[in-house]
Amino acid sequence: MLDLTPRKEDLDPIEVASRDEIQALQLQRLKASLRHAYDKVAHYRKVFDAQGVGPDDLSSLADLARFPFTGKQDLRDNYPFGMFAVPEHKVARVHASSGTTGQPTVVGYTARDVDIWAEVVARSIRASGGRPGDKVHVSYGYGLFTGGLGAHYGAEKLGCTVIPVSGGMTERQVQLIREFKADVIMVTPSYMLSILDEFERQGLDPRATALKVGIFGAEPWTNAMRQEIEQRFDMHAVDIYGLSEVIGPGVANECVETKDGLHIWEDHFYPEIVDPVSGAVLPDGEMGELVFTSLTKEAMPIVRYRTRDLTRLLPGTARSMRRMEKVTGRSDDMMIVRGVNVFPTQIEEQLLKCGGLSPHYQVRLTRENRMDEMTVLVEARAAAASPEARAASARELGHHIKNVIGISAKIQVDAPGQVERSGGKARRVVDQRPKD
Ligand code: DLL
Repeated sequence: MLDLTPRKEDLDPIEVASRDEIQALQLQRLKASLRHAYDKVAHYRKVFDAQGVGPDDLSSLADLARFPFTGKQDLRDNYPFGMFAVPEHKVARVHASSGTTGQPTVVGYTARDVDIWAEVVARSIRASGGRPGDKVHVSYGYGLFTGGLGAHYGAEKLGCTVIPVSGGMTERQVQLIREFKADVIMVTPSYMLSILDEFERQGLDPRATALKVGIFGAEPWTNAMRQEIEQRFDMHAVDIYGLSEVIGPGVANECVETKDGLHIWEDHFYPEIVDPVSGAVLPDGEMGELVFTSLTKEAMPIVRYRTRDLTRLLPGTARSMRRMEKVTGRSDDMMIVRGVNVFPTQIEEQLLKCGGLSPHYQVRLTRENRMDEMTVLVEARAAAASPEARAASARELGHHIKNVIGISAKIQVDAPGQVERSGGKARRVVDQRPKD
């Protein structure tokens, strides 16, 4: 694969600044951001007052631990615009999460927020190996979801040619990738697999495209999946992270030269890791729940937002900013099967070890005789689709899951094309257990 390491002189100076410089900037911005939230958002004033803290109580970064958390419920309670810190006419854009139940969560941006968002996504594309002049095919959905427009503005900001395809119509995705000769693709990893299937269905070689790099995020994916995609497309596969409540994509991104976790753009987003149960701040290196405070947002400053994503903070490598390890999963996705905690990504890792299985999968949870049952639905690869080969693959995967994760799972190996395909974020877990 090509060496796409950016030149040091092309980076933003803050990406390679000293830790002291970064922390000084963070402290100054954090003070201003807490003040802005307290003065302009009734919710923050109320919860800060209730906890007996105010913006003036922050004299070091560690003092942030004294401030209350914000959760998804707070956004819902203040639906639609109650968390905004600017008058509505100053809001240049809103986005919203679909929300499977109840109200969507709404987020807002001023023109300056949109600009900073574009900057952090441009920085993310550059870290991934993209350059001004590259053609960027965007298959993240456009609309209220932040993926499409977030990627779009960032690619434009970097000076790329944007191909705004959005999600869906997989045949056309393949046609445009081939005919427009995109250098970069931005898409969820699970939808990239659907695109891969379509190449194969048409008898086309996915390694023959002009693609140099794919920037994948919006859902958890493993290093095993990275290898699969890199080999099948002969391109780099790089991880991008973000969430709408904090800004959208571009909160953190891997560097193509190291692929060792995602550098958090700490000049705009201040990370903490907390114990998911007690809420206590954990030291760098320890696993816990990721929490973010925005440092520069105007329309919707966010203080100590609990992402539910589990990871740990690591020191910088290719950049001075700290890294977060690839997200294992959300605490909401954690399955507890007969007392063992399991994430879909752990299943993904095991199934990619089996040569006869394709990377499409879904986990179904049921309850039989008061016992939780986990069934992994997977597909055979075309070359291993005979009944005997499928039975052998099922035994192999069951064995890996038992040995490595420690639970007995039922494995159902279907013919190619049978597992639900992703058009955006994949639905990995279907919980059919009775609610009690
Ligand atoms: O998914 C923003 C985004 C768009 C990120 C495109 C990257 C690319 P939400 O819809 O608000 O925003 O969902 C946010 O998705 O809390 C994580 O659980 C998950 N997520 C996002 N990126 C990653 C990633 C967008 N790289 C939620 N790895 C987050 C694992 C991710 N999970």
